[in-house]
Amino acid sequence: MNYHITLIEGDGIGPEVMGSAVEILDASGVDIRWDKAIVGQEAVDKFGETVPEDTINSIKKTKVALKGPVTTPVGKGFRSANVSLRQKLNLSACIRPVINLPGIVTRYQNVDLVVVRENTEGLYSGLEHQVVEGVVTSLKVISRNACNAIGRFAFDYCRNHGRRKVTAVHKAAVMKKSDGLFLEEIRKIAAKYPFIEYDEVAIDNLSMQLVTDPSQFDLLVMGNLYGDIISDLTSGLVGGLGVVPGANIGKDYAVFEPVHGSAPDIAGKDLANPLAAVLSAVLMLEYLGEHAAGNRIRDAAYKVLEEGKVRTGDLGGKSGTKEFTRAIIESL
Ligand code: NAI
Repeated sequence: MNYHITLIEGDGIGPEVMGSAVEILDASGVDIRWDKAIVGQEAVDKFGETVPEDTINSIKKTKVALKGPVTTPVGKGFRSANVSLRQKLNLSACIRPVINLPGIVTRYQNVDLVVVRENTEGLYSGLEHQVVEGVVTSLKVISRNACNAIGRFAFDYCRNHGRRKVTAVHKAAVMKKSDGLFLEEIRKIAAKYPFIEYDEVAIDNLSMQLVTDPSQFDLLVMGNLYGDIISDLTSGLVGGLGVVPGANIGKDYAVFEPVHGSAPDIAGKDLANPLAAVLSAVLMLEYLGEHAAGNRIRDAAYKVLEEGKVRTGDLGGKSGTKEFTRAIIESL
């Protein structure tokens, strides 16, 4: 089968790790025609906006995109390209599977969980307002529809991936209305899936529990900001940001991207670990139904990790992005 997919290389280490993913996809034999598009700073320079219409139109046409990280300037200026892209395409669910990797020794050897994050509203609604000089508000928007959608997604994902338990993450004791509505909707959905275990945990308690015993968790479903923070935290349990993939899934479109950012501190130096990008491409192949190719790439990468001879610096090795990429292709 021939696929037409949008490719957004991104900023910083984006072109390096995306280059690696594309090379490996190529070597796997899956026939992909790429439609290159841009978001972020490059798009602002060329079109005066972080997410140009051309990019949205490309994804609307191809339905699927593989995306690298983009730099978002802090403070004043344009809206986050990531938040805009997710809202414009209604990519309502973000999934980040966090699992121990062969040969990578970390503090815990029993991590196998998925972070499911609501991707379009919450505190990332982008509605900020200066009331008077020195006083600002930032709106946390929670809608019944979005809570319902993320709840359904989480329970369906749990069932379809043979998982056993959904844990809803909240701070409803303080944010009684917003997180209260989130819990109310998730509980309704939990009642429709009696064969899936369900429990709830406050976000602060979860943070402590995760660094004490992550094996107690299976699928964690939560709002936008909590999900952003907890995905980085959980990536630290299995080797760091360089190894955890992600997917943004909506009803009509899907955008696959690593959890990490553009890592300006190591950009352009052949130091970035491309594994998170490569495993995001594997998630994309699974979404497309190309399970055999996805498994082959994952197995090839795991074999290289297990052998331990070729590893990037973040995993204690001395190899660069390119050498690691070549090793995976040879292993394929
Ligand atoms: P970051 O994820 O870029 O980097 C955090 C740390 O992890 C740095 O020390 C970096 O060198 C390291 N790291 C990240 N990815 C790595 C990889 N593949 N291999 C080895 N080491 C890696 O987070 P930071 O520094 O907070 O953000 C930098 C920029 O990225 C910001 O402009 C931020 O807004 C943006 N960002 C974009 C995201 C996206 O496009 N999805 C997600 C997160 C941040």
